[in-house]
Amino acid sequence: MRKNIGILISGRGSNMASLIAACSDIDFPAKAAVVISNRPDAAGLDFASKAGIATLALNHRDYEEREDFDAVIDAALEEHNVDIVCLAGFMRLLTPGFVDKWRDRLINIHPSLLPAYPGVNIHDRVLDDGVRITGCTVHFVRAEMDAGPIIAQAAVPVLSTDTVEALSARVLNAEHRVYPLALKLVAEGRARVASERVLIDYDELEPAAMFVPAL
Ligand code: GAR
Repeated sequence: MRKNIGILISGRGSNMASLIAACSDIDFPAKAAVVISNRPDAAGLDFASKAGIATLALNHRDYEEREDFDAVIDAALEEHNVDIVCLAGFMRLLTPGFVDKWRDRLINIHPSLLPAYPGVNIHDRVLDDGVRITGCTVHFVRAEMDAGPIIAQAAVPVLSTDTVEALSARVLNAEHRVYPLALKLVAEGRARVASERVLIDYDELEPAAMFVPAL
């Protein structure tokens, strides 16, 4: 049985598009049920509705309390029978109540090798620090920002000629490969949390797909 996913976005939605593309394969273990944005003008909403997926455009500013905003998201996810929630550039911290309810069914992608470089402006900080290898991470979400058990990561070399634009484009490319792979592992029940670490039942080729540098 394919799992229903809900995708939460705030803007461009390129990771959302990579998940939708993966879900368009009938053999993929998940299908896109709804896309929800906290910004009504998010470009990703248009892409999702053109792909025939239900969308919900919210404005977090309309809600006085974070709990009220999260309750609306939660109700929409339930309405669409969502099994797994994927944050894809969703730039709002979710309340502990929401995170607890969706515990181990709520995943996020972040453009660094967590726990290094949580937060924003990651590629500026990576270049400033002279880091040689960066990458991206898909993890189960906990209440703290960009924290939680790690499902998959991809490594991306930092080149001496890199600008923020060049590096972020290369990391984004790795994000688009690793997020569908991580979702597949979760949807197939092959990524399990034990003592706040993720145990994975691998197919033979998957680890290679995750760690090959994405130049
Ligand atoms: C992506 O790089 C994603 O990893 C990042 O926002 C970007 C969204 O781009 N997320 C975070 O920084 C979460 N802490 P997209 O809208 O094109 O997917």
